[in-house]
Amino acid sequence: MKIPKPILAAFPILFFIGLLLGNLFFFKTQEQGQKLYHLHCSSCHMENGEGLAGLIPPLRKADWLAKNPEKIACIIRYGQKEEIQVNGATYNHPMPANLQLSDVEIHNLTNFLLTNFENSLPKRTFEQIVKDLQTCR
Ligand code: HEC
Repeated sequence: MKIPKPILAAFPILFFIGLLLGNLFFFKTQEQGQKLYHLHCSSCHMENGEGLAGLIPPLRKADWLAKNPEKIACIIRYGQKEEIQVNGATYNHPMPANLQLSDVEIHNLTNFLLTNFENSLPKRTFEQIVKDLQTCR
């Protein structure tokens, strides 16, 4: 099959437009996660995710995130009020709910945590987050 020249010439251009849109989308979701973190989480977990010794568990290099990726969405939406172990230390202070955040915002926030603060954990898909949120008590 012979592909007409103008269409062939358009391929590289389309390729770069695709690349550009892909990047924009990536930075937008990453940026939303970061903004939401700054607004709703950093007052307790600190801007650098280190938490506060004895009071607020860390998100930086947190083993809890690696062990419970499917629970992150629920803890963001509904908070938590029970004993929790993070990086070998025990915490037991209530974390408040964030009922105003949409599923999409919780998705971006979750993936921000999974891939920042020295965590390099697999991201969750939007479908996984929606399922995760159906399991919250
Ligand atoms: C008022 C302080 C406060 C705010 C604001 C807050 N948290 Fe928490 N967070 C806590 C406390 C305290 C715990 C431990 C809860 C427990 O003892 O059960 C916790 C636990 C967690 C955990 C599980 C433990 C860990 O360190 O991995 C995650 C994940 C988490 N918070 C994420 C967030 C995110 C994301 C936000 C912003 C949407 C947020 N938190 C906002 C206080 C807070």
